[in-house]
Amino acid sequence: MTKAQATDAPLTADAFDALVRARRSVRGYKPDPVAPELIAAAMQASLWAPSNCNVQPWSVHLVSGEKLRALGQAMMDHASAGRPAPDVPMDTAYRGVYRDRQIGSAKALYGAMGIARDDRAGRASAFLRNLDAFGAPHAAFVFLPENFGIREAADLGGFVQTFLLALTARGLGSCAQGALSLYPDIVREHLGLAPGALLMVGIAFGYEDPDHPANAARTDREGIEGIVRWHG
Ligand SMILES: Cc1cc2nc3c(=O)[nH]c(=O)nc-3n(C[C@H](O)[C@H](O)[C@H](O)COP(=O)(O)O)c2cc1C
Repeated sequence: MTKAQATDAPLTADAFDALVRARRSVRGYKPDPVAPELIAAAMQASLWAPSNCNVQPWSVHLVSGEKLRALGQAMMDHASAGRPAPDVPMDTAYRGVYRDRQIGSAKALYGAMGIARDDRAGRASAFLRNLDAFGAPHAAFVFLPENFGIREAADLGGFVQTFLLALTARGLGSCAQGALSLYPDIVREHLGLAPGALLMVGIAFGYEDPDHPANAARTDREGIEGIVRWHG
């Protein structure tokens, strides 16, 4: 473990806000690999994410190139034959405002891809692209230790966002993907991993293909007044 380094404010608030806004989910990539040093630098930065009692409850498997394509193909094959069996159930039914936001993001994505709402086959094949990490040259599979729960998953969220921002700062596109956690047994089998740790999320990353239609999708956000109540 490296030692903490004290820093003065390292960048302006404007620069930080611009970085946050520059990150968006990228769902189409150039095949070009990213230099290992660049990936390592982004990962190194993300290791500074905070966690409860500094337990750092994350472990990461980085998968690239042909190995990632083979894993993606295995998951796509399995998806047409078997049901997902994620380590942590993905079965929350979104209702009310959450459902509205979910529909908004699907509209943005499928609209950009020219897939109509009632085009079930088109949507299914667009979804399958998830399992191949949208053709990205790299994907990070992020695990929680066995028996860890919702509190540690919150730590993991901070880690994931820090990694996404570190990638953005280096000119790389990325997409966090719950879909990459749907078939953890296949991931373990391909990577030779023992059972135990919980696969929570995958992160596709690489250089964005600006011509891919999916990358024209844009989402928006609730205003601060819809989220925050000020007390005192
Ligand atoms: C934990 C997590 C899981 C996600 N899973 C998926 C996924 O499986 N497939 C996908 O296309 N996008 C996925 N996303 C991306 C969200 O759809 C996206 O962040 C949201 O719509 C906001 O859009 P933006 O990232 O472009 O700002 C996920 C994001 C997060 C944080």
